[in-house]
Amino acid sequence: MCGIIGYSGPKEPLPILISGLSRLEYRGYDSAGVALIDGDNLSIEKKEGKLSVLKEHLEGTSIKGNIGIGHTRWATHGVPSDVNAHPHADNANEFAIIHNGIIENYAELKDDLIQDDYSFISETDTEVVAVELSRKWNGELLDTVLDVAKSLDGTYALVVTSTKQPGTIVAGRMMSPLVLGVGEGEVFLASDSAAILEYTNKMIFLENGDFVEINDGNFTLYDIEKNVITRDIQVIDWEVSEAEKAGHDHFMYKEILEQAEVIERTIAGRIEENSTEIPIHLDKAKKFEKIWIVACGTAYHAGLFGKDLFEKVLGVPVSVELASEFRYREPIVGENDLGIVISQSGETMDTIAATELLKENGAHVLALVNVVGSSLARMADSVFYLHVGPEIGVASTKAYLGMLVGQLLLAKHWDSDDKLAVAFDEISDLPKLIEQTMACEKQIKDISEKIYKKNDIYFIGRGLDYALAAEGALKLKEISYLHAEALAAGELKHGTLALIEDGTPVIVTASQNHLLDKTTSNVQEVIARGAYVIAIGDNQSKKLENISDEYVTLPDSNEILTTVISIIPLQFIAYHVANLNGESIDQPRNLAKSVTVE
Ligand code: M6R
Repeated sequence: MCGIIGYSGPKEPLPILISGLSRLEYRGYDSAGVALIDGDNLSIEKKEGKLSVLKEHLEGTSIKGNIGIGHTRWATHGVPSDVNAHPHADNANEFAIIHNGIIENYAELKDDLIQDDYSFISETDTEVVAVELSRKWNGELLDTVLDVAKSLDGTYALVVTSTKQPGTIVAGRMMSPLVLGVGEGEVFLASDSAAILEYTNKMIFLENGDFVEINDGNFTLYDIEKNVITRDIQVIDWEVSEAEKAGHDHFMYKEILEQAEVIERTIAGRIEENSTEIPIHLDKAKKFEKIWIVACGTAYHAGLFGKDLFEKVLGVPVSVELASEFRYREPIVGENDLGIVISQSGETMDTIAATELLKENGAHVLALVNVVGSSLARMADSVFYLHVGPEIGVASTKAYLGMLVGQLLLAKHWDSDDKLAVAFDEISDLPKLIEQTMACEKQIKDISEKIYKKNDIYFIGRGLDYALAAEGALKLKEISYLHAEALAAGELKHGTLALIEDGTPVIVTASQNHLLDKTTSNVQEVIARGAYVIAIGDNQSKKLENISDEYVTLPDSNEILTTVISIIPLQFIAYHVANLNGESIDQPRNLAKSVTVE
C-alpha cells in the first residue's frame, strides 16, 4: 500500500517522479506528493486526491532539484488530506521523508518529542520519524537514519533526504517492499519495479533490514549496523508496455482481454514431464502429509479451486486458509506438511506472516506469486511464478486466472494415477479457449444493462463453481460497490433464500457437469421466488439453459477447464456493471492493490 519513488542522477527528477507515481497510483490514491532538494532548499508539494490534482497544482510551480522523492498514499493514520499526505518534514523543514508501512510505537515517540518541545502538524506516524531524524541528527544522514531505525517498531519502507546533506538519499526497509533500480549513472527507488521499468530493468530487491545510501547516481548497501552488504541485481523481463493501458480506458479491462496471451506464458515450458519449471516433482509431493493453502482475497478464492485438485491427485487433506486468520490461531502444522502460499504481489502482509508461521513449524513452503523478487518469493523454499506480467487494476483478473492455471499445472505433475488426465491433456488448449470465451462480452454488456441498478446480486455454484462464485461476487462488490454475495448453491435454502424476491439477480456458474442436476434444482428454487437468473455453462446444460432468463454459452471443454474459463464472464459482469455505474474501476474507493499492512 502506498507508492514510493525516488531518483538520483543527472536528469531533472520531477518528470521521473511524476511518471513513476502515475505507474504507482494503483497502490494508493488518496493523496500524493513530491520533495526535491536543490542545495540547501527543500521543496515539498503535496495534495489530497488523485495524482491528477498534484499534477495540476505543480503546473503553476517551478520546483527543481538534483534529487527527488515522491509518494502516493493509502491512509493508515489520519484522514486523506494535504497535511497528512507525504512527504513529511521535520519542524525546521530540513528532512523530507516518505514511508510505506506502520510505525507501531509512533505515539510513544511523539509524546517524547512533544516533551522536548517539538511540534506536529499531521496525524501521521511518518511525521514522527521526520521529527525524530532532526532530533537525532549526528552530522551524517546514513548514521542518523540507522540510529532512528533502531528505535522504530513496526513496518516500513522509508526514503529520506535532507538539506543537511544535499545530494544524498537514504532508504531502508522492514517488511514493506522497496526496490532499487540500477541505471547508467543513475539510481531509482520504488515500491514496485513496474514504476521504474521504463528507465531500467536491473533491480535489487532490498531485504528486511537492508539500507541504501545513494549519492549522485551511485549507491552502497548496508545492514542496520552499517556493515556493507551485497545483493544480486536481477533483470526483470517485463515489457514497459505491459504496465500501460494500450489504448483502453482501464487497466482492468486490458488485463481481462490479454488473458489468453498471458496464460500462454504461464503454461510455457511447464507441461512437459520433468519440466525444470515445476518446483516440486511427484516424488517429493507424494511425501507430504497435509497441504495448507494460505492466501487473501482473490488469491484465497484461487486456493479454493486448488483444494479439490490436490486432494484428488495426491490423496492428502488440503486445508484452505485465510492468511489474516491463520496467523492468529494455532494450526497444527507439521514438518511433513506443504504450505502453498498464493499472492499476486508477493507482498501481502498477512500472507507473509502466515508463511513465517508455516516455516517456523517446519513445513515446506511453495509460493505461487506473480511479482518476481517479491518478499514471498524470497521467503519461500520453492517458487512458481505466474508470469502474467504486471497487474495494475486493483481488481485482480489475469493474476487470478494465472493462479488457477498454476495450480492446475502443479496438479498435473502430481497426478501419478492419471486421475485427471482428461483435463490435463487439454491444458495447452487453454489460451485458445480463453480467447473464444471473450466472445461473450457483448452478451454480458447487455445483461449488465439489465442489472446495474440492482442493490443485491447473488452468485451461486456447487463444487469448483462455488469457488468461482466467491471470486465473481468479490470482483463485483470491490469495483461496483453493490452488495454481492456468493453461496454454495445447496446452502440457499438454509437461510439466504429468504432474500430472493421478484427480480433479484442470481448468477449461476455450472461448469461441473456431474453436479448439473443438483445445481439446476437450486436454480428452480430461486426461480420459484422470482429471481432473474443468469446462467453460465456449456452446451451440455440444456435444462439449465431452458429455465434461465439469460444463458451464457461457453466453448466446449472438459469440466475443469470449463471452470477456469467461467471466470471470464464474471469478470466482464463486474467490469461492465461498474462502468455503467460510472465507478472508478482501476482505483476503487478505500482499497489499494498491494495490502502491506495488517
Ligand atoms: O497480492 P495478493 O494476491 O496477495 O493480494 C491479495 C488480495 O489483497 C487481493 O487478491 C484482493 O482481494 C484483490 N483486490 C481482489 O481483486
